[in-house]
Amino acid sequence: MTEEKKTATLTLEGNSYELPVLSPTVGPDVLDIRKLYAQAGVFTYDPGYTSTASCDSTITFIDGDKGELLHRGYPIDQLAEKSHYLEVCYLLLYGELPTATQLEDFETRVTRHTMVHEQMHRFFTGFRRDAHPMAIMVGVVGAMSAFYHDSTDINDPWQREVASIRLIAKMPTIAAMAYKYTIGQPFVYPRNDIDYASNFLRMCFAVPAEEYEVNPILARAMDRIFTLHADHEQNASTSTVRLASSSGANPFACIAAGIACLWGPAHGGANQACLEMLKEIGSVDRIPEFIARAKDKNDPFRLMGFGHRVYKNFDPRAKVMKQSADEVLDLLGIENNPILQVAKELEKQALEDPYFAEKKLFPNVDFYSGIILEAMGFPTAMFTPIFALSRTVGWISQWKEQFSDPQHKIGRPRQLYLGETMRDYVDIENR
Ligand code: SDX
Repeated sequence: MTEEKKTATLTLEGNSYELPVLSPTVGPDVLDIRKLYAQAGVFTYDPGYTSTASCDSTITFIDGDKGELLHRGYPIDQLAEKSHYLEVCYLLLYGELPTATQLEDFETRVTRHTMVHEQMHRFFTGFRRDAHPMAIMVGVVGAMSAFYHDSTDINDPWQREVASIRLIAKMPTIAAMAYKYTIGQPFVYPRNDIDYASNFLRMCFAVPAEEYEVNPILARAMDRIFTLHADHEQNASTSTVRLASSSGANPFACIAAGIACLWGPAHGGANQACLEMLKEIGSVDRIPEFIARAKDKNDPFRLMGFGHRVYKNFDPRAKVMKQSADEVLDLLGIENNPILQVAKELEKQALEDPYFAEKKLFPNVDFYSGIILEAMGFPTAMFTPIFALSRTVGWISQWKEQFSDPQHKIGRPRQLYLGETMRDYVDIENR
């Protein structure tokens, strides 16, 4: 936390209150209102947290106006081009890029935790085969606390470290198992001789009946998608993880809560909803109809994959994802993918439309990701599980950061109460 250096004055009913102003290393100043209720007897009101900082953090910074995303100060486009997911995991968890030795040690530790307890296989059989993989992931990840008791004591730094590694290592295995279960194929065990992204592709697409060779182009694209989704400040699911953690819940329960929140179509579920929307549009000549619907206040339809609470410029992840979509489809020999053509034309027409320009609505991370994932062979239902897999390191890094905060306490918002004042019970015969 930076030193207080400025104050703001609040005048209320003839009284003045000095509010400390805290300055970040970069970004807007914040008014410290922690003592406001005690001093002035009033709450602040910000239902969507549009102007509220819930914590201080050193992990990720977004400049929404410039369209910049930094992880521990490193721009996402440089990390996407030059780094790889497990190195970004190390950066998010420990704050610095690893040396070669540190990276090798970290990758070995993750690799050694990729299998899940064998009894978890039976846990899957309780689900219907047509269950959404996100429903399975919420259940199975929450159940991890029933299998890994030796890493649930949040007051033990070593157990926190083990839980962090276990979650990063096992999420691809659990996501792949959820996919295999829904398509009626046998689970594929992880291997220790291939990289993280290749392992995930192999666990999803290999079958016992034949050898499976991972396509290095797809493995690189998969790893880049993991990196682009790794962390994103205090988004809804990360805030859910932090709030769950503030009660002292174990790490597996907190991550399960984050998965549940991410599932919503306004958040991580948008990648599935966006591809379904692009398919519904179907051809470029129907784009004006859908843009008109998105602008119609009486129509709940929104352009999925468009808009963002923080970005009021291009989402830098969407830029990288768009380049990757072109590369992957080209390398896969998928010429003139009609959905990609619709997406590009929709982006062009929307960005030329005053409604989207005035409201500063740009494509976000979910706009192009589904196109790549579908080209890689994933069904739309697997898009959000892949987002959850990728974001686990962000959730865990933010979860760990809370424990380093001496002021860490349970999160308990107040409210603007508009209900009835006290009144006496009325017996039913008198109602
Ligand atoms: C993610 O927070 C994060 O960082 C999230 C994320 C991450 O990495 O964790 O980046 C991942 O969740 C990306 C967002 C994925 N969601 C979608 O693509 C769903 C479609 N987008 C919208 O639902 C919306 O843009 C949100 C939810 C993303 C943001 O909503 P806000 O910030 O609450 O904005 P808003 O609803 O107040 O919209 C402002 C205006 C409104 O019009 P007015 O009421 O001012 O007239 O813009 C309009 C909205 O109607 N608007 C849209 C729109 N998004 C906002 N109009 C049409 N299409 C859209 N997509």
